[in-house]
Amino acid sequence: EKRAVGTAHSKIILIGEHAVVYGEPAIALPFPTLSATCIVEHSYGKILFESEKYTGPLERIPERMKGLALCINETLLELGQKQANLKITLISNIPIARGLGSSAATAMAIVRGLSNYFATPLTKTKLKTLGNIAEKYAHGNPSGIDMETVFSDVPILFQKGFMPKPLFIQKPFYLVVADTGEIRNTKLAVASILAKRKQDPKHIEHSIHLLGLYTRETKDVLMAGDLSRLGELLNLAQIELKNLGVSDEPIDHLVNVAKNEGALGAKLTGAGRGGCIIALAENGDHASMLCKRLREAGATETWFFKVEQDSEQLSCEE
Ligand code: PMV
Repeated sequence: EKRAVGTAHSKIILIGEHAVVYGEPAIALPFPTLSATCIVEHSYGKILFESEKYTGPLERIPERMKGLALCINETLLELGQKQANLKITLISNIPIARGLGSSAATAMAIVRGLSNYFATPLTKTKLKTLGNIAEKYAHGNPSGIDMETVFSDVPILFQKGFMPKPLFIQKPFYLVVADTGEIRNTKLAVASILAKRKQDPKHIEHSIHLLGLYTRETKDVLMAGDLSRLGELLNLAQIELKNLGVSDEPIDHLVNVAKNEGALGAKLTGAGRGGCIIALAENGDHASMLCKRLREAGATETWFFKVEQDSEQLSCEE
């Protein structure tokens, strides 16, 4: 019996979220610890969809998951398989709506799974465009950073309208990710900044400008391997994100705990107002200790990972 699989990893925004919507650069990292898998099999009758959140005919998928149905239908059209009888199963360990790219990774896993099932390769651009259908439905006007990062195997500098650039990382570093357990809503967070910008353009544009400067410096700092300055830049970015109004009490709490426990820097990651924080650790042992302390302080889940230069990165295409 024919069966195919597609996968995609989650993502972490290191710095530059929100400012990226206004054309500033941002830096994002693939986060392979968490990923989404899509299994595509033959079925009889209509397209069956199976996931933790909904199992049933695709055409009756709940409104909040409609973006995935649009993405599946467009992909089948692209593959010339509009009439296919399929069972599409989604398995993911990426917490939903925490700024870790669950929706982008899910969409990318589905597009890859369908393309593999029909043994019809799609270009990189096509894969991302199809995946972004779901993102556009969920977010309104996403910058595209999530889709680019779940697609990339290496850290990237992303700027709207440009090809993402692979980043050079001189010195490996350990990053802790801690979940506040609160659902964040990217669309609302992005809209709240837009509304604030209308009221007080000078103030908001200044924060966005500073976030852009911090991101550009982060790129240089990663290249130079200066981890203490990297920590400072994460702290400075958190100040501006607070200024933009996208931090909240649970985020501030975890950020403070991380800093009190010796993190070199800490900030929210993703849209904010819920979701996760990241903290820069001194080393692997420190990262593991930070995870423990953050859980004791209320984080629902924590992870840590080593960010390093991939030897294949230098030959990375596109
Ligand atoms: O959806 P999240 O939490 O991964 O945030 C995406 C990053 C934003 O800059 C807030 C929005 C965007 O479209 O870039």
